[in-house]
Amino acid sequence: MNKRYFHRVKKGSYSLHPVFFGSTTLQELIEEISFDNQGYSSIFALIDSGVPAEKVTAFLGNEFPASNRYVVEGGESVKSLASIAEIWDFLMVVGADRHSLLVNIGGGAVCDAGGFAASVFKRGIHFMHVPTTLLSMADASVGGKTAINWSSTKNMIGTFALPAVVSIQSHFLESLDRRQLLSGYAEMIKHGLIADDSHYEEVLKSYVNGEIPSECLLENTVNIKAKITERDPKENGERKLLNFGHTLGHGLESLLGAKEDKGVLHGEAIAAGMIGEAYLSMEYGFSQEELEKLITTLKPLVSHAYFSEDQIPSILESIKQDKKNEGNRIGMTLLKGVGEGLWTEKLSIQKVEEGLRFIVKVLSNQTK
Ligand SMILES: NC(=O)c1ccc[n+]([C@@H]2O[C@H](COP(=O)([O-])OP(=O)(O)OC[C@H]3O[C@@H](n4cnc5c(N)ncnc54)[C@H](O)[C@@H]3O)[C@@H](O)[C@H]2O)c1
Repeated sequence: MNKRYFHRVKKGSYSLHPVFFGSTTLQELIEEISFDNQGYSSIFALIDSGVPAEKVTAFLGNEFPASNRYVVEGGESVKSLASIAEIWDFLMVVGADRHSLLVNIGGGAVCDAGGFAASVFKRGIHFMHVPTTLLSMADASVGGKTAINWSSTKNMIGTFALPAVVSIQSHFLESLDRRQLLSGYAEMIKHGLIADDSHYEEVLKSYVNGEIPSECLLENTVNIKAKITERDPKENGERKLLNFGHTLGHGLESLLGAKEDKGVLHGEAIAAGMIGEAYLSMEYGFSQEELEKLITTLKPLVSHAYFSEDQIPSILESIKQDKKNEGNRIGMTLLKGVGEGLWTEKLSIQKVEEGLRFIVKVLSNQTK
């Protein structure tokens, strides 16, 4: 085992939940978290079908019973009530009890769905996340939000529930295709934009080269999220910073994500949302120069989030359902500058529409 990066996120985030970095096995993780004498009566695994089977077995161990594994198709379809019902059926059939552990191995969708299923099964059982996409390593697996989608609105139903442990092992990224890898960078770029200008620059270097990020870069990005989340676990204030790009992005995802074969990926929708929200941030101090740099940087991502002016009313309808709204004011996180987010803004629907129109303009310039 590579011990170099096998450690908890240091200081602060430990009280949130432990995060381990580096190649490891289920057995080793169980030993590490048994500090509170947590004994599990049984262990089950929810497995994303996109993860190579040999990597799953190397992690779970050859002795892990086949009957305790439940493989689901990866991607957004698992975040539905029908899929959650199937996971509950599985847990019932295999005899999971309140001292069982559910290990979620997969992308952000599997982590969100598995976390949700576990957090309410028998009023809540422990779960572990083993994220296998860049987006789930950098963001979705950390911080204790679980969710499913409802009536095409993203993340409408969910819980705040902390995983017992998160294990981030970048070797899982070796099988991820390039588009998915770049999509994951969107959330890392967001972490830099809202909280840390030097992290932003470091992330951009790795993203532009299209490489698998170093574990050190992953750790820095997770630390940003973990620290914010620890200070505001239930999103009463500061945690809203992490929603930068997500008000417009979720609206786009609701419209474009459902397309049968080639919908927009989460990070791509968030990248487009970040452009619209950075544009609206110019009234709060974000510079034209930084906006242009962001547009150029995010070009490979947003080209997949194409939509037209006549789709704006449907996107606005979905944005009006957003959890962050108060009455007819739309909650949005903006930026004062690179590394400095503002989470308290409530905008009119006209302003939100202006942000969407700006994205359309950027996208149509890119396709000319
Ligand atoms: N809970 C949170 O705080 C939070 C934060 C950000 C995003 N999210 C959620 O995360 C989801 C997006 O996650 P995502 O980008 O990981 O996408 P995803 O979970 O949809 O996975 C993308 C694809 O990658 C495949 N895959 C997974 N691991 C693989 C591997 N190692 N090799 C090859 N293929 C693999 C999956 O099967 C799937 O087809 C969205 O639903 C979003 O709402 C949640």
